[in-house]
Amino acid sequence: MVRILSATVTTSPEGPPFETGDQVQLTDAKGRMHTITLQEGQRFHTEKGGIEHDILIGAPEGSLVTSSKGTAYLALRPLLHDFVMSMPRGATIIYPKDAALIVAFADIGPGARVLEAGAGSGALTCWLLRSVTGTGTLTSVEKRPDFAQIAQRNVTKYFRGTPENWMLHTADLVELAPAGPFDRVILDMLNPWDMLEVVEGCLVPGGVLCVYVATTTQLSRVVETLRAAGGWTEPKSSETMQRGWHVEGLAVRPDHRMVGHTGFLMFTRRLAPGVVAPTKRRRPAKGAYGEDYDGPRVTDRRDTTTGNPVEDV
Ligand SMILES: C[S@@+](CC[C@H](N)C(=O)[O-])C[C@H]1O[C@@H](n2cnc3c(N)ncnc32)[C@H](O)[C@@H]1O
Repeated sequence: MVRILSATVTTSPEGPPFETGDQVQLTDAKGRMHTITLQEGQRFHTEKGGIEHDILIGAPEGSLVTSSKGTAYLALRPLLHDFVMSMPRGATIIYPKDAALIVAFADIGPGARVLEAGAGSGALTCWLLRSVTGTGTLTSVEKRPDFAQIAQRNVTKYFRGTPENWMLHTADLVELAPAGPFDRVILDMLNPWDMLEVVEGCLVPGGVLCVYVATTTQLSRVVETLRAAGGWTEPKSSETMQRGWHVEGLAVRPDHRMVGHTGFLMFTRRLAPGVVAPTKRRRPAKGAYGEDYDGPRVTDRRDTTTGNPVEDV
C-alpha cells in the first residue's frame, strides 16, 4: 500500500502588522475586552496596569501583550461584529445574526443600489456598506439628527473616513421620498407600513424589500398591508435564534444564557407595475380574519395605476 503524506508547512503566512490608527481589541483571560486606537507615544490605562501603544505598533496581529501589572492581553483587530456590538448607540442596533441574514436573503452584493431607513446607530449601515462594493451605493435615511450623528461617527470610525458610495440623509423617509432607483430597500422602524408608497416609488421591479420589526403586531400589520396592496410577492417572515454552546471535554451543552429575542425579518419582492400577485386559493386558518381582526385585507386591493378595486385571481 502506498501512503502519500502531505507536505509539512513550516512557514506561516504574514498579515499586515499593527500600525498607527489601527483599532486593536485587547482581551484578557476572563474574556474582558477593551478596544483602543493605536497612537504613537500613547499609553492605555486599566485597573490592571498600563500598556504602551508603541509595543503593539509593528507587532503582528494575534500578539500577546502584558500590562505594567502583569496582566496578559491578546491583541487582535476587532471584527465587524465585535465593532457593532461595542460601538456607541443611540437607537437599538440590528444584531449581527440578523444583519447577516439581511445581507443573504435580501441578496445584497457588489453593485447593488440600496436604501435603508432608519439608520439608527449605523450598525446595519456598516454591514451594507461592506457588501455593496464596486459600483454599489447605500443611501441611509435617519429622521433624528442626534442618531444620524451617531451613525455618521460609527461608520466613519469603522471605515476610517466616510465611504464615497454612502449618502446619509437626516430626514423623514416619507418627506424625503428618494427617487431611486434602488435594487434593495431595508426598513427598520416602528411603522414600516406607512413607507410603502415611498418604497413603491423607488424600488425596481424584482427588487427586494426587507423589513425588520421587533413585535408580532408590527409583523402582522406590515405583511397584511403588503398583501392588501398587491404588487408584491407573498411576504416571507422569520426570526433567528442563535444559541451558543459550551464545549469542554464531555460537557457539551447549550449555553445557559442567550439573546432570546431581537426581531422578525420579512422579505418580499416588487412586481412589475400594475401586476397584482395571485392570492392563495387555500382557505386561511379558521379565525385568522375573524371578527376580531381589524387590519388590512386582501379584498382592499386596488390597481396600482387606476386605483380601482382588484378582483382575486
Ligand atoms: C431601531 S433604529 C435603527 C437601527 C439601525 N438599523 C442599526 O442597526 O443601527 C430605528 C430608527 O428609525 C428611525 N426612524 C423612524 N421612522 C423614520 C422615518 N420615517 N424616516 C427615517 N427614519 C426613521 C428612528 O429615528 C430610529 O433611529
